[in-house]
Amino acid sequence: MKKHIFLLLLSILTIDVLAQNIIPKPVEIKSTAGNFAITAATTIGANNTESRKIAQMFTDKLKQAAGFNPKVQKTGAIQFTINATPNTTIGDEGYTLESSAAGVKVAANKPAGLFYGLQSLLQLLPKEIESKAAVKGVKWSVPGVKVLDYPRFGWRGLMLDVSRHFFSKDDVKRYIDNMVRYKFNTLHWHLTDDNGWRIEIKSLPKLTEVGAWRVARDGRFGDRKEPQEGEPTPYGGFYTQEDIKEIVKYADERGVTIVPEVDIPGHSMAAIAAYPELSCTKDPKTKVNPGTNFAEWFGDGKFKMFIDNTLNPSDEKVYEFLDKVFTEIAVLFPNKYIHAGGDECYKGFWENDPGCQVLMKKMGMKHVEELQGYFMKRVESILAAKGKKLLGWDEILEGGISPTATVMSWRGVKGGIEAAKMKHDVVMTPSTFAYLDYNQGEATIDPPIYASLRLSKTYSFEPVPDEVDAKYILGGQGNLWTEQIPTIRYAEYMTYPRAWALSDIYWSPKGSKDWNNFTKRMEDHFDRADVAEMGYSKAVYDAIVKASMKDGKLMAELASELADIDIYYTMDDTMPDNFSTKYTQPFEVPDAQITLRIATYRNGKPIGHLITLKREDLKKRAGQ
Ligand code: ACM
Repeated sequence: MKKHIFLLLLSILTIDVLAQNIIPKPVEIKSTAGNFAITAATTIGANNTESRKIAQMFTDKLKQAAGFNPKVQKTGAIQFTINATPNTTIGDEGYTLESSAAGVKVAANKPAGLFYGLQSLLQLLPKEIESKAAVKGVKWSVPGVKVLDYPRFGWRGLMLDVSRHFFSKDDVKRYIDNMVRYKFNTLHWHLTDDNGWRIEIKSLPKLTEVGAWRVARDGRFGDRKEPQEGEPTPYGGFYTQEDIKEIVKYADERGVTIVPEVDIPGHSMAAIAAYPELSCTKDPKTKVNPGTNFAEWFGDGKFKMFIDNTLNPSDEKVYEFLDKVFTEIAVLFPNKYIHAGGDECYKGFWENDPGCQVLMKKMGMKHVEELQGYFMKRVESILAAKGKKLLGWDEILEGGISPTATVMSWRGVKGGIEAAKMKHDVVMTPSTFAYLDYNQGEATIDPPIYASLRLSKTYSFEPVPDEVDAKYILGGQGNLWTEQIPTIRYAEYMTYPRAWALSDIYWSPKGSKDWNNFTKRMEDHFDRADVAEMGYSKAVYDAIVKASMKDGKLMAELASELADIDIYYTMDDTMPDNFSTKYTQPFEVPDAQITLRIATYRNGKPIGHLITLKREDLKKRAGQ
């Protein structure tokens, strides 16, 4: 009897834990008595055409993972409902979910909300629901819960850069599949840059015939060999307009808006390789860049380009070109925004161009920066003529900005603050919290990149700065630049778990943050991602290693992002284990040929990666 009570308690507790592991964290979730067991005989109901589509997505999952094949009928034990009378609390993307021994009810005002209710229901089920093949021996049990849920922000995005590396149509769909599990609703698609033009423009065929392809190169992006004259260009790819329509439809069916980006007037080397006359220098030898060292960075965001990658703002033909591009793009993407870039535009070639000088004089401009303001305003009126709104990186604030532009704040939040104070809508994507290309753990073992952003820092992000009116902050994104990222699996590794943190930040109520609770949910989702065959990083388990000089001595300081991790180290060339020195406080690394080796454990079991640092590495880290 005692054993039975114990087992009952254990099963309630386990189910309760499952119920509390939803990402993003719901507004309200209460565990209730009982649970609902799904079997082959369970009926699935949907009250109209829209809810039937979502119910069908659920049965597709059940068929794949459990081998059940229920038909969707009008009413069922698991019922999907579009509310006849709207629930005024939950808006268009919110939902309610109730489960008990009697059944499961998911309801929403709109399909988007019902779709998110479905995502939460899937997360309440055992992780095997994510399996691509039928799994035997699983108890398909939904714990008893009462959920009321709706998002904090309407813009919850991820940006995928497909220029630096091309990602196939299936890769993009897979990226969408994963983002919607976490209730992201916006895919910002960075379609053009120096390294590839990825969207077919029928009236400008060379954009993809030439601009989508580059020479094959290995090695680190930014250090690669220059393309040679006449060298074949096998690497790349592009989306035909049919591909774009297919992906836009696929996204729409999952509640995702796609915002296309054409990055101008800088970052345009691929377009210039196709049509050299678009730049001031008109160099016919311009090539789609394979990742060479084409700029010198001065450390304060200022830089000099060695190759001209800017469109000429003084040439009317450039605006005719852009009109053609945006005419075709505007009809492919039904949403109201087009992102026209505006970031990191080097003005040195404009400064020396006679046409730009004449234009500046005519317009009474004193600084070359003002040419960018002129250019973006011209772009904005081209977009407006096609019924679209201009969205741009925060540099569009420089050189004057029209009142209707929306600003994406990436150089920290200061551009966003400035823009919101000027009553512009803002999307927050600060590199300091939301750049998913930055490495997320120890620099010597994580993929090499120039900056670091740990999960805990991402999780600490608050998108609405105190000094602005919250109504101007539409929401935020995580941005995945792909210079160093050639595959979708690697893209996932960089995206998750940081995008789970962002999912909480952009969806869950302000004030609901709790790091320990988040990491507990994250670990459950590591297991779910394994079943879903989705990539993610476990850098959160690795030690954080800092070095400093104190009284002429080299000191090492170790830490973990997680509270229950033990750190062990050696300096005697042996491999560390949980019988080595346990880290408790900063220690001296003696002045000798020493290698510091660090391992992490939890409950006596190894968990992170081994970190190996020579004294010389630590000295460099200490700024010596
Ligand atoms: C950017 O990261 N250049 C927007």
